Amino acid sequence: MMRLRHKKWTDRVLSENKDISSNLDELDQEKIAKANSIEIGCGLGGFLFSLVNENKNSFFIGVEINRNAFASCVKKFASIKETTTNFYIVNAPIEKLFDKFNDNKFNNIYINFPDPWPRKKEHRRRLTYIDKLKEYHRILSSDGKLYFRTDNKDLFNDSVEYFNSSNLFEIQIISPFYVEKENIIPTTEYEQKFRNQGVDINLLIAKKK
Ligand SMILES: C[S@@+](CC[C@H](N)C(=O)[O-])C[C@H]1O[C@@H](n2cnc3c(N)ncnc32)[C@H](O)[C@@H]1O
Repeated sequence: MMRLRHKKWTDRVLSENKDISSNLDELDQEKIAKANSIEIGCGLGGFLFSLVNENKNSFFIGVEINRNAFASCVKKFASIKETTTNFYIVNAPIEKLFDKFNDNKFNNIYINFPDPWPRKKEHRRRLTYIDKLKEYHRILSSDGKLYFRTDNKDLFNDSVEYFNSSNLFEIQIISPFYVEKENIIPTTEYEQKFRNQGVDINLLIAKKK
């Protein structure tokens, strides 16, 4: 019953908001072309929402693989779509979107608290895994930056190795990272949860070489 009810509102929200969101098959090429910042795994959209409202001269894409999280995110953005138009939300795995993006396109890539995939045989699924770094490098502009944050120490340490061994980026590490002290990027839903538990968060900023 619960699931049915959830499905009902997600279907309605998604059909009413095709102007601001889409799945892989119905991408609005103009919006894809306009975008110069991207958040991968945007979840419920709190972080994206802050960026969109604080940077009206940039155009943001949020990518989310999970349909329910995507629908919640779209619902949040539907509330501002009459006055704010610098965003587009896509329900897809990022792996399926890379070939839609031209080289040197994005000034910023944000990856916040991605799934850690702790088992060795799953490492290749990590959003910071080496094959994906090549794509991030390709789609970043010459002075573009990628911001990656996590509470997971193993994921963070392994990712530092991926970035270093790729030889594609200069990296800066802020560890632990406090939004309120550094004021570099806004907070996310997951971050709030970890902060409340007193867990350290690490930030890696990768600048394209
Ligand atoms: C742990 S959550 C963090 C959500 C949000 N970034 C935050 O900090 O609150 C990770 C999110 O990444 C999404 N995700 C995982 N793999 C993805 C992929 N390959 N492409 C797009 N989104 C992905 C998940 O569905 C999930 O919503």
